[in-house]
Amino acid sequence: MEIIRSAEELQQKTLKIRQKNKQIGFVPTMGYLHEGHERLMEAARKENELLIVSIFVNPLQFGPNEDYDSYPRNEERDIQVAKNNQVDILFLPDAADMYPAEQAITMQVVKRVNVLCGRTRKGHFDGVATVLTKLFHLTNPHRVYFGLKDAQQIAVVDALVHDLNFSLEVIPIATVREKDGLAKSSRNVRLSEKERNEAKYIFQALQSGRQLVIDGEKNPVNIVKGVEHFIKNHTHGKIDYIELLNYPDLTKPEFINQQVILAAAVHFENARLIDNLVFDAN
Ligand code: PAJ
Repeated sequence: MEIIRSAEELQQKTLKIRQKNKQIGFVPTMGYLHEGHERLMEAARKENELLIVSIFVNPLQFGPNEDYDSYPRNEERDIQVAKNNQVDILFLPDAADMYPAEQAITMQVVKRVNVLCGRTRKGHFDGVATVLTKLFHLTNPHRVYFGLKDAQQIAVVDALVHDLNFSLEVIPIATVREKDGLAKSSRNVRLSEKERNEAKYIFQALQSGRQLVIDGEKNPVNIVKGVEHFIKNHTHGKIDYIELLNYPDLTKPEFINQQVILAAAVHFENARLIDNLVFDAN
């Protein structure tokens, strides 16, 4: 495995690889790698000749009161995980190399962002779109892999790639979960033992909401109420949102009759957890 820290060096290298017509798979991450990330790498390795993974905690996508400084980091361990997953190139830039000066141009996402995480995390998806635009130019990938755990991020990346004509394919990968159903996340290490126990109920609540739909409930308000009730009854977490929207356009349905996303965000003491289910409501 080759470790590259310079943006310029990476771009020169991937341009040459692309000229040779070698298929490049890319997995962008913020590190503290877990099985969710590994599943993305596994898929990318199978479908491409070369696997590039990036680890960069992107300051642009964190709000002033968010956890940029305390975001979990462990470079040494991440390098080992990447090696174990047969990564060919690990891109490990520091912020000064990605953003040598304040940018004159950044991205602004105007649709698919006034809901779910975008509503409370103002500017978050602008930061994601900006860093991904840079990373796509640096890695020149044929296919880029994202987890459905962050389904709104995939909806935004789909729009980015489509609207700005990136010549690459976005591949969504199913959420990897702990045995009790909790979605794997780098932030789970910040849960107390009691919170960790309660956190499993977020997924169960979403499943109960999907069951209501299967049983014939088509009014989103009633489904959201059911999920809210479940989470309040089983956890001490503070609900940030519970929403049911059409997916991937993230518009609000009156009655659900197509592919939808049922999503929740819950604040615990030191971690905000998100989870969702995307399913066909027909
Ligand atoms: P990060 O949170 O590190 O996640 C990197 C990728 O791993 C994302 O596509 C995310 O959806 C996926 N992922 C995380 N947990 C997962 C799980 N339990 N199952 C499946 N996939 C999972 O998302 C980001 O970083 C950043 O916003 C980034 C795209 C790198 C831009 O900075």
